[in-house]
Amino acid sequence: MPMGSVVEAANTGANGSLSEKKPVVVFVLGGPGSGKGTQCANIVEHFGYTHLSAGDLLRAEIKSGSENGTMIQNMIKEGKIVPSEVTIKLLQKAMHESGNDKFLIDGFPRNEENRAAFETVTKMEPEFVLFFDCSEEEMERRLLSRNQGREDDNIETIRKRFKVFLESSLPVIQYYESKGKVRKIDAAKPIAVVFEAVEAVFTPADEQKASA
Ligand code: ADP
Ligand code: C5P
Ligand code: MG
Repeated sequence: MPMGSVVEAANTGANGSLSEKKPVVVFVLGGPGSGKGTQCANIVEHFGYTHLSAGDLLRAEIKSGSENGTMIQNMIKEGKIVPSEVTIKLLQKAMHESGNDKFLIDGFPRNEENRAAFETVTKMEPEFVLFFDCSEEEMERRLLSRNQGREDDNIETIRKRFKVFLESSLPVIQYYESKGKVRKIDAAKPIAVVFEAVEAVFTPADEQKASA
């Protein structure tokens, strides 16, 4: 079945058993530079998910010359969170176009508005939330040596992003924590060690026992 119909069935509640057709969504959260993108690339290789980074989609939207481009560019430069309506439209479009039914949604939801709007618009709930926990000192080091030419990887904007993370994004993680959905990973370790912990989260318990 093409992805469009899977998402529509889940959205509209139309025809048949929804539990069979609902796409699987995992939110990948953590501070800027905690390693979300790096680990998502590994998860895609091993577990067949499609990786959708909200930040990447917003940067692509700027490049495409869309009418929202200037607004998005200004918000990213200031480390501010773009209105949910814009980001959710980009995520929905990417889900439809992917043809997959398993998604890593990276860097979203970033605040309560993102979270509530996504739920209302898509009627989707995350299977679980992967949370990369890392100190600001380590994240700052990583961002300052990332070298991807990003306009927000400078110390001034980084400080603003850390503030937004603490004030707006951590409460979203706490919300999912209260629902028992958070899988917390020590993201300060080397990339391969972090991925071992990530793999354990994605591997069903019976398979973990079998390979032990
Ligand atoms: P995020 O998507 O969370 O902002 P990235 O995956 O882009 O973070 O990682 C930020 C930078 O840190 C990149 O240059 C990446 O290569 C590097 N990096 C990612 N994970 C680790 C790690 N565990 N240890 C050291 N450097 C890392
Ligand atoms: O996740 P990433 O570091 O790529 O995000 C870069 C910027 O994109 C954020 O600092 C923010 O300005 C914007 N963004 C957003 N809403 C999201 C994700 C990212 O506004 N849900
Ligand atoms: Mg990223």
